[in-house]
Amino acid sequence: METEPLPSILAPHQKARWKTNQDGIWTLDGSRVDEVPARSILTTLWDQPRWLEAYHLYDQRGSDLFEQICQLAEYYLTRTENSILEAQAAAIIAAAPVECIVELGAGYSKKTIHLLTEQLRQRDKGIFAPIDVSESGLLASREAVARDFPRLEFHGLHARYEDGFTSIEQAVPTLFVFLGSTVGNFNHSDFPRFFRALSEAMGPKDYLLLGADRIKDTTLLEQAYNDSQGLTAQFILNVFCHINNLLGSNFDLAKMRYHARFNSEWQQIEMYAIAEQRHRVSFPTVETSFEWQKDEKILVEISRKFDPQRLQEQLRFFDLLPIEHFTDANQWFSVLLFRKQG
Ligand SMILES: C[S@@+](CC[C@H](N)C(=O)[O-])C[C@H]1O[C@@H](n2cnc3c(N)ncnc32)[C@H](O)[C@@H]1O
Repeated sequence: METEPLPSILAPHQKARWKTNQDGIWTLDGSRVDEVPARSILTTLWDQPRWLEAYHLYDQRGSDLFEQICQLAEYYLTRTENSILEAQAAAIIAAAPVECIVELGAGYSKKTIHLLTEQLRQRDKGIFAPIDVSESGLLASREAVARDFPRLEFHGLHARYEDGFTSIEQAVPTLFVFLGSTVGNFNHSDFPRFFRALSEAMGPKDYLLLGADRIKDTTLLEQAYNDSQGLTAQFILNVFCHINNLLGSNFDLAKMRYHARFNSEWQQIEMYAIAEQRHRVSFPTVETSFEWQKDEKILVEISRKFDPQRLQEQLRFFDLLPIEHFTDANQWFSVLLFRKQG
């Protein structure tokens, strides 16, 4: 049987860890992507207050719902960031002379096409490697690249960020792309852990392009997460269906409601599930349960908002030097380019 050659972007000492079952999509050998999630769900649900890590939101249905959210009139983030990328892709790619574009949490990579187009226009070749826990996003990206960018080499890494970026060969000049203000989903301990690890994994000729949603009017922010179609509520509460599937638990969507608000002290949107009545949630596979009290909240996701200058200064402490700052006419969203300090 013919085996697919291992991607050139993987560091030699990492290559043995990866395998492929489908053309162009790679997973870590011997690991199940849902193994760690189960432990993570239980540990944070027993925390005070109870909370969840954001990546559990992206099962197949969650990924589909997020795509629909991106089309909503209230969700200005996607179209604003897309307009910045469309206008600035040529400048971004010119400023970052790379062979490879690695996208973290790529989703369906719809906005990234502006960068891929420019990479081919300016260099006539390139590698695109999206990293995501969502397989449906990777499959959609693979299809789009095969159709629209056949000259690009494609390798999708079905993995969590850190497993993905620590495997990338440092000698290949790479632009790491992290869009959608997904960085806002990190809490105050995830944030430094992520950037320390990413910066250490980056080579001396690497760059980072970071999309960050900015601090702005509270009404505008709260509308974006309380859309009139209720899609954000479905997206957030769907995490409990995903957890039921993973752990055999009995979360009941009829006994909870969605609530989102802007916490002005922490400058973050907080998205909660709140129990409408007291009830017991059981996890039969691990023989445990907890009493979810009436009105008790589970923090499902945060979306932090940023001051771009402060973010630039902060990332200097991770050896990421700010090179360019792109924004829109309303100054609602920022796309920041950094160079790894060699
Ligand atoms: C907010 S969405 C953004 C998607 C896309 N980049 C955009 O801008 O529209 C976050 C994406 O990151 C992925 N993701 C979340 N946590 C992850 C993790 N720890 N490792 C890898 N992917 C993750 C999700 O599956 C999802 O596709």
